[in-house]
This record gives sequence, C-alpha cells and structure tokens, in this order.
Amino acid sequence: MEKESLFIAVGNQKGGVGKTTYTVLLSSYLHYQMGLRVLVVDCDAPQ
Ligand SMILES: Nc1ncnc2c1ncn2[C@@H]1O[C@H](COP(=O)(O)OP(=O)(O)OP(=O)(O)O)[C@@H](O)[C@H]1O
Ligand SMILES: [Mg+2]
Repeated sequence: MEKESLFIAVGNQKGGVGKTTYTVLLSSYLHYQMGLRVLVVDCDAPQ
C-alpha cells in the first residue's frame, strides 16, 4: 500500500514568534525520533 503524505503548516501573521524555531524542532523530531522522511519549506510571503 502506498504511503500518503502528511502536510503540516506552521503559520502566524506576526513575525518573530517562533515559526521557524518550532518548524525545525518538529521536523527534527519527526525525522530523527520517528524515522519519517521530511521536507521543510520556510516561506515569507511579503518578502
Ligand atoms: N539561536 C537563537 N538564540 C536566541 N534567540 C533566538 C535564536 N534564534 C531565534 N531566536 C529568537 O527566537 C524568536 C523566534 O524566532 P523565529 O525565527 O523562530 O521566528 P519566526 O516566527 O520564524 O520569524 P519570521 O516571521 O521572521 O520568520 C525571535 O525572537 C528570534 O530572535
Ligand atoms: Mg521564520
């Protein structure tokens, strides 16, 4: 059976609230602890 991709969005309109920090911690846990393959895309819409 083919594995389905899981999409997780971390978002907030305010800057500097910890989006990137949380994303790195979460993706590290998912990969290094749970063994999942993870792709991270860190976007900044206005810039
Ligand atoms: N290595 C570090 N040591 C101390 N403080 C840090 C470090 N890295 C980030 N910070 C602080 O932690 C807070 C959250 O940073 P982070 O970059 O995760 O926020 P962000 O929501 O992704 O910001 P942005 O909207 O600019 O992308 C900010 O106040 C930042 O200055
Ligand atoms: Mg950021």
